[in-house]
Amino acid sequence: MTPKRHLITAALPYANGPLHIGHLAGCYLPADIYVRYLRSKGEDVLFICGSDEHGVPITIKAKKEGITPQQVVDKYHKMMGDSFREFGVSFDIYSRTSNKTHHETASGFFLNLYNKGVFSEEVTEQYFDVKANQFLADRYITGTCPKCGNDKAYGDQCEKCGSTLNATDLINPHSTLSGEKPVMKETKNWFLPLDKMQPDIEAYIDSHKDWKTNVYGQCKSWLTQGLQPRAMTRDLDWGVKVPVKGAEGKVLYVWFDAPIGYISATKEYFENPPAGRKKEDWELYWKNKESRLIHFIGKDNIVFHCIIFPAMLMAHGEYILPDNVPANEFLNLEGDKISTSRNWAVWLHEYLLAFKEKQDVLRYTLCANAPETKDNDFTWKDFQAKNNNELVAILGNFINRTLVLTHKYYEGKIPLADEYTKSDILLLEEISKFPGKIAASLDAFRFREALAELMNLARAGNKYLADNEPWKIAATDEKRVRTIMNISLQISANLAVLMEPFLPFTSVKLSEMLNLTGFRWSHAGRSDLLAPGHKINVASLLFDKIEDPAIEEQILKLQESKKMNAEENKVTLPSKPETSFEDFSKMDIRVGTILEAERVPKTDKLLKLKIDTGLDQRTVVSGIAGYYKPEEIIGKQVSILINLAPRKIKGIESKGMILMAENTDGSLSFVSPASVITNGGSIK
Ligand code: 2FM
Ligand code: ZN
Repeated sequence: MTPKRHLITAALPYANGPLHIGHLAGCYLPADIYVRYLRSKGEDVLFICGSDEHGVPITIKAKKEGITPQQVVDKYHKMMGDSFREFGVSFDIYSRTSNKTHHETASGFFLNLYNKGVFSEEVTEQYFDVKANQFLADRYITGTCPKCGNDKAYGDQCEKCGSTLNATDLINPHSTLSGEKPVMKETKNWFLPLDKMQPDIEAYIDSHKDWKTNVYGQCKSWLTQGLQPRAMTRDLDWGVKVPVKGAEGKVLYVWFDAPIGYISATKEYFENPPAGRKKEDWELYWKNKESRLIHFIGKDNIVFHCIIFPAMLMAHGEYILPDNVPANEFLNLEGDKISTSRNWAVWLHEYLLAFKEKQDVLRYTLCANAPETKDNDFTWKDFQAKNNNELVAILGNFINRTLVLTHKYYEGKIPLADEYTKSDILLLEEISKFPGKIAASLDAFRFREALAELMNLARAGNKYLADNEPWKIAATDEKRVRTIMNISLQISANLAVLMEPFLPFTSVKLSEMLNLTGFRWSHAGRSDLLAPGHKINVASLLFDKIEDPAIEEQILKLQESKKMNAEENKVTLPSKPETSFEDFSKMDIRVGTILEAERVPKTDKLLKLKIDTGLDQRTVVSGIAGYYKPEEIIGKQVSILINLAPRKIKGIESKGMILMAENTDGSLSFVSPASVITNGGSIK
């Protein structure tokens, strides 16, 4: 079916921090490129986003800063909106979920399902803080991790060992609100019976085998595990109030209300309808079968957009379902995960301070490196190389040479082409295919490939000038030069039209220089976009070189973050009491080589190792399975305390102990000699 209209959404970002390059690369940039492309094709398209202003992390941030959750979201809603605008992310509306329209819409949606009897009501026991007189969200409970002993684990996760936890797993739990030990108390919540809905959801997912492999694969894996009922209400005081009797003090689960934010924002857009449209038109985008709904998201949002939200829409019954959910993987920074708390990020507002008016350079780099099929890495060196070797040397250079020569030879007027040579005709044919090729990649959500094609057009232009060298024959072959310059100008005009989705600021700049208006995607590919005699404007450089000091400054900034983190994570283990040399000498520590390694059955942590100690081959059981895979460590040299009294561990006699170094995050690493040592060599 050819859709009549497109509703494109980009995940509503949480309003609890500024935006960084990971946000842009993950979902907002691809969504914007896609929308700009559809608009250029003259399609009916609406691009929706807004701030996700509910959820526990926002309340925690507010507590930490001593302000209200509303103050937190006001601050970041504004900051995020500004960053999106500055980077040319062209939403038709950037709304927010704390507003009235959203509260009414989300509440109405819940009531609709409630009245249909969709929800199951379940009473469960949850932690309650008697002093603070409130139920505790998992993040409000800390305690000791039962897996690694970290005493600062949260009720949903231990950040030290990475385990997913239930609040009831924590040893010695206490409330972060009052510090008190919480008690268990019964509470009623409303659950979406995803288990019962599984067959319908399965049929829906199966009808979308065309989705990206990472998306389809993740959905299938959830379905294989079997869907479970999920609570759609929470005991919390920040969010959309649950609009039913007996639900006082409860709000909608943030993942119930957030995707409804897409609907509320559409409604809000039509509250002051543009000319020729009316208020009710929002429904066309959500309820008409000829509309196509596409959600751009990051991979951590897949289950919510592909399973839970469609299940909600199905249960409601009046809405269309997402037709595609192109999700990207994650972007790393200089080889490490982007992290707000460790300040390991490139913040969009800070980028603009350092690289004024270079929004398109970042858009280009992030699209060229987009984490489309796997996690990818952003490095400042690569950013510099992409700018200097591609944008400046290929695209900018071609445009600059073309425009400067046009001013020089023809006082800025497009010359009339004379006869085309055979190779001119071949080139023009090649040019005519670019819009189709780029479009095919964009239609398949392959943005890197689309951008690479666009650059191939600039490359073709550059090569054409280099092969034909008009500057060498300017005095002798006036006719030929006119043809070469006309063709180069037509390529420039094509670039201005086709680059618009990717590099919107540069496209405006180039269009102004070419004095080009009113062209769309459908005009591209032609070689008559600029008529002979048409006057172009003054030329200036589209891109300029980024020198080493600017890049070094950014790298230095990241190194500062690393240093600060290292400071904060400094080992705080107090030193042990003094010991005598004699005592130390009692320990017989040797270099040994791991000959065999296998997991100890029914344990998470233990590996059974066979070690060549130089004196013998012996078995040692070691708690390192969380850090090393058996196959990785065979042949490795390690340090082993050989005269430790043997111990039975899980029924296996362990003779000796492998020495390990512990990092601040609790991870372990072998203590190995820096160069190969004969087995049995002693460590002193
Ligand atoms: O992961 C996030 O940042 C969520 N705030 C995304 C919500 S998307 C949608 F459902 F609103
Ligand atoms: Zn742990």
